[in-house]
Amino acid sequence: MGAQIAVPATLRNSALLGLGVHRPERVVTNEEICRLIDSSDEWIQSRSGIKERRFAKAHPEESIVEMATSAAVKALDAAGVNAAQIDTVIVATSTYGWQTPHSAALVADAVGTGGASALDIQAGCAGFCYAVGVASDLVRTGTAEHVLVVGVERMSDATEPTDRTVRFIFGDGAGAVVVGASEEVGIGPTVWGSDGSQGKTIRQEPDWVDFAQNPEQKRPWIIMEGTAVFRWAAFEMSKYARRIAEKAGVELADLDAFVPHQANLRINDVIVKQLELPDTVAVADDIIETGNTSAASIPLAMEKMLRTGQVEPGATALLLAFGAGLSYAGQVVKMPPLAQ
Ligand code: UT7
Repeated sequence: MGAQIAVPATLRNSALLGLGVHRPERVVTNEEICRLIDSSDEWIQSRSGIKERRFAKAHPEESIVEMATSAAVKALDAAGVNAAQIDTVIVATSTYGWQTPHSAALVADAVGTGGASALDIQAGCAGFCYAVGVASDLVRTGTAEHVLVVGVERMSDATEPTDRTVRFIFGDGAGAVVVGASEEVGIGPTVWGSDGSQGKTIRQEPDWVDFAQNPEQKRPWIIMEGTAVFRWAAFEMSKYARRIAEKAGVELADLDAFVPHQANLRINDVIVKQLELPDTVAVADDIIETGNTSAASIPLAMEKMLRTGQVEPGATALLLAFGAGLSYAGQVVKMPPLAQ
């Protein structure tokens, strides 16, 4: 009755210790996409900034678990952490085809963690930053030593090849980070939220049970009311970016990098303008070659910035993810090292 419950006495700092990605080999140009939709390379580039994206191999190859594992192995290498040191695996995805078992348990096994706790997070395109927030708090409170966080999607499975309102936007891929304890603060406080009243603006239709009961109808696909989502993203996100910086005690002008979700180059241009970011802040633009990879977009965009030398490990970056839900999440982080 009167027994005291022990908890770690103090919080510690957390950081991104390493980053790895998996980019599918197959590059899909706008020209290829336009063979099945009434559109053009010129329209797609001018409306979204996208020149090409990558699609994973046909199911069951390059599966969610395979791509997540491939990115995770590289992240562990970059972090100098063994798989056995991982005690939690979090996979953020909205395109895993199985309702059970969850993908993180299979990734934890495939990576060789030897029985890590594992959970999936589904928060649309905001999923990676949701997962980083959870992982950071697990490490800070002492619940976990090392958390493997993966954002992974096969958007090509979820968008109808003939639907010109969505097919050109999305791509496939995976990005992973290892979150662990650190001397310095490497991950700032998470700002997150959702607006379910606008949940229908990005939705799957119909649901799988409805489809199973009425198989004569079209199979479930992602449907997006693009302009409504565009408006929400372009005009609400600067408010949350300011809040993220404020909570981390960082001036926006002192950032080295801004890594917004790669949904549309024009959305990010509007956010950058509203934030009045100086030219010294490098802005991620991976969408041009990668399209919108939903929960994988932030780690993929971080990898491009590090690989191309736009920023160095240790640089201060503001991550801001947003999408279905409508949900958003973000935090200020120190950029992690990449595997060599
Ligand atoms: O990652 C999750 C979050 N997702 C997002 O943040 C995506 C946000 N939305 C967007 O990025 C943009 O809304 C899109 C890129 C999807 C669409 O751009 P838009 O400027 O909002 O185009 P729109 O839907 O308002 O359509 C403009 C015109 C219409 O023609 P009219 O009515 O002006 O004659 C459309 O019928 O473009 C037409 N259109 C197309 N034309 C050629 C729509 N889709 C296409 C297409 N190719 N693929």
